[in-house]
Amino acid sequence: MKIEYQETSEDLATRINIHEQYGARNIDDWMLELLLIPKGSRILDVACGAGKQLRAFHNYLDGEAEITGVDISDELLADAAKLNRSLGEKLIIKKLDFNQPFPLENDYYDLLSCCFAIYYAADIPFTIREMHRVLKPGGRLFTSGPMPDNKQLFYDVISEATGKTIPPMPGSSRYSSEILENIRSTFSHVELHRFENPLTFKGVGPFLDYTRASLSEDRKLWSSFFEGADEFEEVMQLISKVASRRLLESEDGLVMTKVVGGIVALK
Ligand SMILES: C[S@@+](CC[C@H](N)C(=O)[O-])C[C@H]1O[C@@H](n2cnc3c(N)ncnc32)[C@H](O)[C@@H]1O
Repeated sequence: MKIEYQETSEDLATRINIHEQYGARNIDDWMLELLLIPKGSRILDVACGAGKQLRAFHNYLDGEAEITGVDISDELLADAAKLNRSLGEKLIIKKLDFNQPFPLENDYYDLLSCCFAIYYAADIPFTIREMHRVLKPGGRLFTSGPMPDNKQLFYDVISEATGKTIPPMPGSSRYSSEILENIRSTFSHVELHRFENPLTFKGVGPFLDYTRASLSEDRKLWSSFFEGADEFEEVMQLISKVASRRLLESEDGLVMTKVVGGIVALK
């Protein structure tokens, strides 16, 4: 089986830490306020990664829920298993490829979440149908993904530094259009919510760390910008120059606003 996309544990952790340190808002709090999940719920977190949302659900519900996290990456599942040990093994952690039929029964879950991942599915309608199938009637799907105006500063700096046009991103170029439409055609009631989180960098260091971890997340999309480690470093040098100049010119620091869409869909 060919895995088109592979997140590394380190890059994901870097981006999560930078959001937490430099962001004005917390996205998990926003998700929990939006969903108001009742205790006793059966929750499936698809593409759980290292377990960020699993931890948020577990803490919010004081462990009074059946919470399952699934992902394709062995490395990230090992991190999620470590989290599970720290929570007293209250979670269920399993390997699942969302491009294959889910080995899960029909009509079982109250909530299925899929945060920052659905746009990596090879066949979006197939994956959305599988998500719909395993939810109970009346169950909810929650997905999050980038909106078209997400992290404009990041793209502006890369474009200025390289003189190249940014390629269409799998998330932001279709999350609030094609993917939202697909969910609308499968679920009975669908809402799109918007979350904005400005990240303010007073020095270029964390912006560059974020850029590294982000470019490597979608490395194959950037193949016309760099190939191999040396070219990657050259591009990072150019990015560093532009970011430093912009920082000197600004009074408020470098502000990169994450703009996220939260889709809540009812089966
Ligand atoms: C950006 S990470 C998000 C992880 C987590 N939801 C979070 O917000 O921290 C994207 C996740 O999608 C997972 N993923 C990619 N392709 C997958 C597939 N075919 N099946 C299941 N998970 C997949 C990756 O392993 C990774 O954990």
